[in-house]
Amino acid sequence: MRPRILIIGSGAVAAVYAHHLVQAGCQVTFLVRDKSSANSAMPRQLHQYQFIGKPTATQQRLRVITQAYPDWDQVWLTLPSDALTSPWLAEQLAVFGSDTPLISWTPDFRDDEILRKIYKGPLQHGLIGLISFHTPLPGEKTPTEGFGYLLPPGSAILDNSRVGQQAAALLRTGGLPAKCIKDLEWFSARSTSVMVPLIAGLEMANWSLSEMRSSKWLGIACQSCRQATLISANYMQRDAGISAKLPQPLLVSMITRLAPKVMPFPLETYLQYHFSKVGVQTRQMLDHWIEEGNAGGLDASALQTLRAGLQ
Ligand SMILES: NC(=O)c1ccc[n+]([C@@H]2O[C@H](COP(=O)([O-])OP(=O)(O)OC[C@H]3O[C@@H](n4cnc5c(N)ncnc54)[C@H](OP(=O)(O)O)[C@@H]3O)[C@@H](O)[C@H]2O)c1
Repeated sequence: MRPRILIIGSGAVAAVYAHHLVQAGCQVTFLVRDKSSANSAMPRQLHQYQFIGKPTATQQRLRVITQAYPDWDQVWLTLPSDALTSPWLAEQLAVFGSDTPLISWTPDFRDDEILRKIYKGPLQHGLIGLISFHTPLPGEKTPTEGFGYLLPPGSAILDNSRVGQQAAALLRTGGLPAKCIKDLEWFSARSTSVMVPLIAGLEMANWSLSEMRSSKWLGIACQSCRQATLISANYMQRDAGISAKLPQPLLVSMITRLAPKVMPFPLETYLQYHFSKVGVQTRQMLDHWIEEGNAGGLDASALQTLRAGLQ
């Protein structure tokens, strides 16, 4: 029988994972809070970017529901982390059988703790490595309205559990580069400890990579990354090791000069568009590091400076 997957959320990430699951032969349905949201409109165009050449378009038309019911092989959660405390989500998750696996793709290091309070079934996590966005990006004329996306290696990273391996295998069969790793929880925490403070620094530099490189925010953001890594390590009882020394301003400067040259869409525009959209989540993640840092007696001073700037 074709695997039945319910995806909670129907935005940029959900659209892409759904497309590749369908390519693998799955029956995919979206569960949303509001069917009239632009994120739920069907049919919709998906534009797959490659590093070279023009994007290729496909149409997506999948079922969208607003009330959960049981009987899914897997349920995937593609909301931002700040949505995990919404009463709507708790109500929907309560419907699934206790043996229905839930895969959460949300990025906050405290999400597991939050979700375990509202979901009693088997819970796994995934790390999103793809880039996806509503098209056209602000200021652009192409491609047409829909979602654009790029699939770098590691577009979906799951843990080595049976459920994680099944999910990764389905995505790979559908043409999306997915893999499983041993300690996903810690890998994911380290990745977001680097990504999120740098994005907060970029926001403080008016979403300009060159302005960030030449301002005090580069140093503050790099120091925040190191603090976030140490705080996450303490929370997860891991050894931060070499990752607590990264990233360094020189390395970030080099990467931020190179990256816009290789991306097939305007990178700065994407970063501003996407991370403005998930601005509440960024602030929540900084708050969580600061709270955990203070509780554990760890230095969170740079994170506090960043957070104060983002008021
Ligand atoms: N897009 C990327 O390139 C990318 C890359 C890496 C990680 N991520 C992460 O993936 C997650 C989703 O991002 P996205 O780009 O897919 O966002 P998106 O396009 O804005 O889609 C978000 C989906 O979540 C729903 N949602 C938001 N808040 C909700 C709430 N309180 N209750 C119920 N539903 C809610 C939205 O429903 P409505 O339409 O009703 O608002 C929409 O269906 C975020 O954590 C993001 O940081 C994204």
